[in-house]
Amino acid sequence: LLAEALAKIAEADTLDLLEQHRVAFLGKKGSISALMKTLGGMSPEERSEAGARFNVLRTEVADALAARKVALESAALEAKLASETLDLSLPAPEASTGSVHPVSQVMDELAEIFADMGFAVATGPEIEDDWHNFTALNMPESHPARAMHDTFYFPDSDEQGRSMLLRTHTSPVQIRSMLKEGAPLRIIAPGRVYRSDSDATHTPMFHQIEGLVIDKGIHLGHLKWTLETFLKAFFERDDIVLRLRPSYFPFTEPSVEVDVGYSMEKGRRVVGGSGDDEGHAWMEVLGSGMVNRKVIEFGGLDPDEWQGFAFGTGVDRLAMLKYGMDDLRAFFDGDLRWMKHYGFAA
Ligand code: PHE
Repeated sequence: LLAEALAKIAEADTLDLLEQHRVAFLGKKGSISALMKTLGGMSPEERSEAGARFNVLRTEVADALAARKVALESAALEAKLASETLDLSLPAPEASTGSVHPVSQVMDELAEIFADMGFAVATGPEIEDDWHNFTALNMPESHPARAMHDTFYFPDSDEQGRSMLLRTHTSPVQIRSMLKEGAPLRIIAPGRVYRSDSDATHTPMFHQIEGLVIDKGIHLGHLKWTLETFLKAFFERDDIVLRLRPSYFPFTEPSVEVDVGYSMEKGRRVVGGSGDDEGHAWMEVLGSGMVNRKVIEFGGLDPDEWQGFAFGTGVDRLAMLKYGMDDLRAFFDGDLRWMKHYGFAA
């Protein structure tokens, strides 16, 4: 019986089968239990001799069962671990990486183009006071141009009693730079500006880049050359044609609005050529002019000694034009599909 039991236990290859064997040998109705019961009908001598043998048998079978159980359990664990190992050869899902926003990319491009022409980057606060944003730019209180700016005002004034607002253009950086650096000066000032306005081509927050040159003997020719060089570099085309139109800004005199020629290709505006050419039209891209004498004075400089030109343009509009986008609002939606469509995200 012992040999048979040990053989069966050794052959059992599942825990279920092993349990069946345990019941068959050691269970209440098992064969070893049955053997034990025969002790009752034996003589005392027989019983003590057989009882000792049966006990050894029972112990050996129980030990064998226990040992086999441990072996089967650890084999099962091994198998489980083996089936759960990481398969490092599986390709991992691709993580999407961030990218620089088109507006930031264009601002970087502009800064680079102007750096080549010797312009430094200047900055000013987005929360501005009305003196820097308006008064010092020759827009005294009640000046009609103030009303045209759709300004966001803060309810409280600063310590000097100046109304606080979100700057409506980057032009206050002209004043801040002159007051801080003096002359000569050659700066660009890119940054956010705010106006209470919203449609397909206007968002309440947008980006401008300001340019200011203050030096001796500066004239309109310098302005024209600078803008032409900048627009050719930005649009990466030599056939950019500029049209300078007389205009009005309180802070420049004379003031010049600049148009570029463009044509429509596949429903997109493509800059290049004269707006008077067949199939072409003009589009305004920036405002500029010779810095008003009063503004130079507000900047703490003598306008008989120093002259200059200034220009300002919308960065978002330039980006739309360069990349053929048609809705300005999409710039600020953060829609990945849109970013991907225009090649700004992987
Ligand atoms: N600040 C003007 C605007 O926001 C643009 C401008 C800048 C015009 C500098 C002339 C000179 O429209």
